[in-house]
Amino acid sequence: MQLVIRRYRPSDKDPVLALFSISFREHIGPCFQKAMTSPLYLAITLALGVTGYLLGSVLGAVVLPGAWVGLVYFCCHEHYAGFIREKLQTDMQDITGNYLSRPDDCFWVAEAEVDGRAQIVGMVAVVAKQSGKERHGELFRMVISSSCRRVGLGFRMAQTVIDFCKERGFSKVVLKTSSMQTAAVALYTKLGFSYVLSHTETLGSVWFQTMAKVSILKMEKHL
Ligand SMILES: CC(C)(COP(=O)(O)OP(=O)(O)OC[C@H]1O[C@@H](n2cnc3c(N)ncnc32)[C@H](O)[C@@H]1OP(=O)(O)O)[C@@H](O)C(=O)NCCC(=O)NCCS
Repeated sequence: MQLVIRRYRPSDKDPVLALFSISFREHIGPCFQKAMTSPLYLAITLALGVTGYLLGSVLGAVVLPGAWVGLVYFCCHEHYAGFIREKLQTDMQDITGNYLSRPDDCFWVAEAEVDGRAQIVGMVAVVAKQSGKERHGELFRMVISSSCRRVGLGFRMAQTVIDFCKERGFSKVVLKTSSMQTAAVALYTKLGFSYVLSHTETLGSVWFQTMAKVSILKMEKHL
């Protein structure tokens, strides 16, 4: 497969937005499964089933836990769907304006030749941040298409960000990810990122994030 990593062009917008949305929606199912199989949620489901039965009937034993399971699914769904909606209405709505109008920010795409056609199969962005006298880069929007994973492309994209930040004399690269994004955490760890702290920061609604049992992780790599 022929692969090229290049700067984003306005004509990439539709495939980039589609890839971004699909890749973050992928987390909904595993997130729901992980939440529902946690000891706490299993206990709540069981307790609601017993309570429903004692209060009413066999129907109650199904309806109460069913409503709870539905609520948990809704929260997992909204945690990711809300994140996607928000990003599509903010930075991703104008990628050129938000990521390519300053020389120390950038947005790259990975383009592959698939069946004779060029396709966008990955993306990553960096934004320069000032903290006191130091400048660092924040990595955003790391996504690789499911058909191109585990061949080293995510590593190359992240390395592109690291090299870009090194060239500019930035002190470090920072990023946020979540406890559900285990592939991303493994990738960043392999690249030498370490946890800053597993903190209580939220991305989107606190309510959905708490119910979905997702925690936000902050990682950084000193350059
Ligand atoms: C995270 C993601 C970008 C990784 O991309 P990728 O191209 O598959 O990663 P690479 O092939 O470069 O993998 C590099 C290393 O990362 C780790 N890694 C990547 N995917 C992994 C997985 N599914 N399980 C365990 N480790 C994984 C491995 O250490 C791997 O090295 P190895 O293949 O020699 O074992 C990709 O899975 C993705 O787009 N996920 C959905 C979107 C997302 O969660 N983005 C992160 C936002 S913070």
